[in-house]
Amino acid sequence: MKLFTWMTSWRRNMDVGDDTEYVEKLTTLSEGSVRRNFDPYTDIDWHAIELAVTRDDPRWILPKTDPLGRHPWYQGQPVQRQIEIGMWRQSNVAKVGLQFELILIRGLTNYAFWVPNGSPEYRYCLHESVEECNHTMMFQEMVNAIGMDVPGMPRVLKWAAPFIPLVAGPLPIPFFFGVLAGEEPIDHTQKNVLREGKNLHPIMERVMAIHVAEEARHISFAHEYLHKRVPGMGRVKKFALSLYVPVIMRLLCQAIVVPPRSFWKEYDIPKSVKKDLFFGSSESKSMLRDMFADVRMLCHDTGLMNPVAKFIWRLCRIGGPPSRYRSEPQRQHATAAA
Ligand SMILES: [Fe+2]
Ligand SMILES: [Fe+2]
Repeated sequence: MKLFTWMTSWRRNMDVGDDTEYVEKLTTLSEGSVRRNFDPYTDIDWHAIELAVTRDDPRWILPKTDPLGRHPWYQGQPVQRQIEIGMWRQSNVAKVGLQFELILIRGLTNYAFWVPNGSPEYRYCLHESVEECNHTMMFQEMVNAIGMDVPGMPRVLKWAAPFIPLVAGPLPIPFFFGVLAGEEPIDHTQKNVLREGKNLHPIMERVMAIHVAEEARHISFAHEYLHKRVPGMGRVKKFALSLYVPVIMRLLCQAIVVPPRSFWKEYDIPKSVKKDLFFGSSESKSMLRDMFADVRMLCHDTGLMNPVAKFIWRLCRIGGPPSRYRSEPQRQHATAAA
C-alpha cells in the first residue's frame, strides 16, 4: 500500500504541465540547445597543424588558477617537468570529466524513461544527453591527442559508477544534486582558467570554451529542476536532503579535483605539497568554498539551510555565504591569478 502511495506521488511529481513558468524556462533551454550547439569533429579540427601536441610546449604548464600550478614546489621544477606534469594533470581532468558525463548520460536517460508524454523535461534531458555525448567524445579526443595513459577517477568511484545512474529514476532529487556536485567544480575551474587569460594550448582553449558554453545550460536545468521540486518536499525528507547535499558536494568534488594516487607516485610529489593543495592552505580552502557558492544559494532559496545543515557544510569545509547571483566571480581568485 505504502509503495503504491509512493509510486503515485512519484508519478505526480513528474507531471509539470500545469507550471507554465517552468515549462517556458525548459523550452528556452531546449531552444538554446538547438540554436547553439557544438560538434567535436566539425568545431575542432583535430588534425590541424596548430593543434599538434609536442612534449616541449610550454603552453601545457599549469595556469596559476590551478592549485598545483601556483604552488612554489611546482614552480620550482624544471620547465620540462612542469610541462609533463601539466599535460598529465589536464589530460586526467578531461578523463574524469568524460567518465562523470558517461554516468550523467545514463542517469538522464533513466529519468527520461519515466517522464510522461508531453513533458518538456523529456526533451531537455535528451538535449543534455546529446551534448554530453559530444563532450565525452571531445574530451576523449583530447586525452588521445595528449597521449598520456591517464586513469581518470579514483578507483572507488569507478566501482560505484554503474550504480549511481540507477538512483536517477526513483530518487531524481538526490541525483540532480549529484549532477551539480560534478558540474559545478568542473565549470568553476574551467571558467577561472579562461578568465585568467593564460596562453593555453589551443586544444585546451577550444575544448574549455565549448564546454563552458554548453554547461551553463546544464547547470541552469539542474537549478530549475531542484527549485521546482525541493520547496514542496515533506519536512523529514527535506531535512535529510539538507544533510546529504554538503556531503555529496564535498565527496564528488574531492574525486574530481584531486588527482588519483598514481599521479603523486609517478611524479614523486612530496606529501606536504599534496596537503597544501587539497585542502590545507588557506588559499586552497577558499577555492574549495568558492566552488559551491551557487549551490549554497540554491540551498538557501529552497529551504535546505538549517543550523544542522550549516554545521555539516562547515564540517565538509565548504560552508560560507551564498553567491548573490549565479556564476558570481570570486574576487580574491581574480586577484590571485593576476
Ligand atoms: Fe559536459
Ligand atoms: Fe553538463
